[in-house]
Amino acid sequence: MHTATQDRIIRPARNLYGSLRLPGDKSISHRYGMLAAFAEGTSHFTNFSTGADCASTLACMQALGATVSRQNDGTVAVTGVGGRVTPANDPLDCGNSGSTMRMMSGLLAAQPGTFTLIGDASLSRRPMERIRKPLEQMGARLTLTEGHAPVTIEGGPLSPIDYTTPVPSAQVKTCVLLAGLQTSGETTVRESVRTRDHSELALRAFGADLMRTLDSVSIAGPQKLHAIDAFVPGDISSASFFLCAAGLFRGSSLVIDSLGLNPTRAMLLDVLTALGAHISVLNLEEKNAELIGAVQVAAPEEGLGSTEISGALAAQLIDELPVLAAIAPYTRGGIRIRDAKELRVKESDRIALVARNLRAMGAEVEEFDDGLDVPGGQKPHGAVIDSGGDHRIAMAFSVAALRAEGDTRIEGAEAAAISFPEFFDLLDQVAER
Ligand code: S3P
Repeated sequence: MHTATQDRIIRPARNLYGSLRLPGDKSISHRYGMLAAFAEGTSHFTNFSTGADCASTLACMQALGATVSRQNDGTVAVTGVGGRVTPANDPLDCGNSGSTMRMMSGLLAAQPGTFTLIGDASLSRRPMERIRKPLEQMGARLTLTEGHAPVTIEGGPLSPIDYTTPVPSAQVKTCVLLAGLQTSGETTVRESVRTRDHSELALRAFGADLMRTLDSVSIAGPQKLHAIDAFVPGDISSASFFLCAAGLFRGSSLVIDSLGLNPTRAMLLDVLTALGAHISVLNLEEKNAELIGAVQVAAPEEGLGSTEISGALAAQLIDELPVLAAIAPYTRGGIRIRDAKELRVKESDRIALVARNLRAMGAEVEEFDDGLDVPGGQKPHGAVIDSGGDHRIAMAFSVAALRAEGDTRIEGAEAAAISFPEFFDLLDQVAER
């Protein structure tokens, strides 16, 4: 099947200036949408993600019996199925969304019936063995095709497990917790790196009881969820493109308000600070246990310095690594990324694609199995960029293009809409040319 792709020309900018408020966080929107659709009652969400991925979650949950409506003011109302879904006749289409497929699998594994989950070409290449293992240990039957989607689940009553995730993954953690929510007894998930904890916070907001230690989370099922009204904080992974872009221009000043600053997600601020950017956080508040605040960023006079991202930090910053690598040639000392092998199994092989696109811009880069070395002090030129249909690659190289010599053409720019349909308009709004 041939799908039309759209190109975007990005002209260099002289500066970045202004203030922004961003659509709701993709990870939180997935969880609020999925839990609301499973809960009892009607939930209302303001600032819900506008991305195609979260629309996939809502569409799947609708196919399973929930009611979803988007009101004129952007509020999303979700009426849940009260803990029992209706098996759908057609396969559940998760689109490009790994979060939808992996998290929903946990929810459905404990439901009586047979469910088939499919995705687009990119999602059908991504590893699903990581959810089959724990769910089969709990007693569900999952059929994959060579470790990939389509995923067919024969769900039913499960037994609790104590599971250590072999690779840190919030999606797998959530998958097991959503199965555990419906299972008699205590289910525990242990992880070596504390991955994003939105599921834990959201489950509690919907009324569930969880026990947490430094490296584990346990849920004693079965428990019922109850509808909530909530604001979805701005998406810090979407903000990362603007925060990094601002770091490239002396004299830039950018404020992003109502941004999600959950500590398991906000390490980018530390990395930008380590690179020398001036970051201030204002107006901190908490909503449904999620931290929200305004972030102001300004570039240092002497330009960004250098840094290394490895170990736990690489896992916690996984979605921000493409844009950090893309701006690295403009730093003084370069950026070194290691322990990020997971980048190879995201929406694209992000290590290979970042390296290829940096080279297209005339930049030097060394590729490793688990990362990249991008030297600083380089002068990339405009180029034709292959997004590979990957939203974060399209946006990362739009940012790199702002400081390049000459124009850049982003092929497959429409991929940005997977997480951030407003990206190009907002970039035009704050980029001074
Ligand atoms: C996500 C977790 C991460 C991340 C993805 C969203 C989530 O994936 O890369 O974009 O919402 O839980 P893994 O859990 O596979 O690391």
